[in-house]
Amino acid sequence: MTDLPADALLVVTHPLVRHKLTRLRDRATSTADFRRLVRELSLLLGYEATRGLKLEPVTIETPLETMEGEQLSGKKLCFVSILRAGNGILDGMLDLVPSARVGHIGLFRDPKTLEAVEYYMKLPDDVAERQCIVVDPMLATGHSAVAAIDRLKHVGCGPIVFVCLLAAPEGVACLSAAHPDVRIITGALDRGLDDHGYIRPGLGDAGDRLFGTK
Ligand code: URA
Repeated sequence: MTDLPADALLVVTHPLVRHKLTRLRDRATSTADFRRLVRELSLLLGYEATRGLKLEPVTIETPLETMEGEQLSGKKLCFVSILRAGNGILDGMLDLVPSARVGHIGLFRDPKTLEAVEYYMKLPDDVAERQCIVVDPMLATGHSAVAAIDRLKHVGCGPIVFVCLLAAPEGVACLSAAHPDVRIITGALDRGLDDHGYIRPGLGDAGDRLFGTK
């Protein structure tokens, strides 16, 4: 992987993230536990992804006195799930920011052109006024992430953060080259991709493990 700007990639190394990722990777982990772990990891990664949110002062009454507190200011967040596995991350993110709006982007790869083809896109009307956090558990080749972010920028979105559970160096390089302004937050940076496009050592197919389809 070529050198990236210092803040382009954040690997969250908190012990809870490392522990939960190991449980997630384990092939013996059940579908129910896998889902629960994805939700918990999303919360921990979401905490980092929302660090830059703006605050404004607000006056409140505690039971004892008046004080100046702080609250999130203005239009807030939009989580954008890359279907289908991105939906697994939404639950944890929404635990953190229940008022956030949610968008969905569905893409498949055309087997002839290898281009990402959009089959579904639904975004809030005011998405351009919100900070977008794009979620997909696996940043593998990076093609879906790039295609999804291309579409978000086309409708005027920004700033954008990308959150995944695992990333391959190939995916990080691809996304950072196409969208150097997009910060990537991940739970781990794995060794690389195999010939089938799977992240190694990885966790297998995140969508199948989340939805019990294999
Ligand atoms: N998508 C997955 O679900 N797993 C991988 O390893 C790569 C892409």
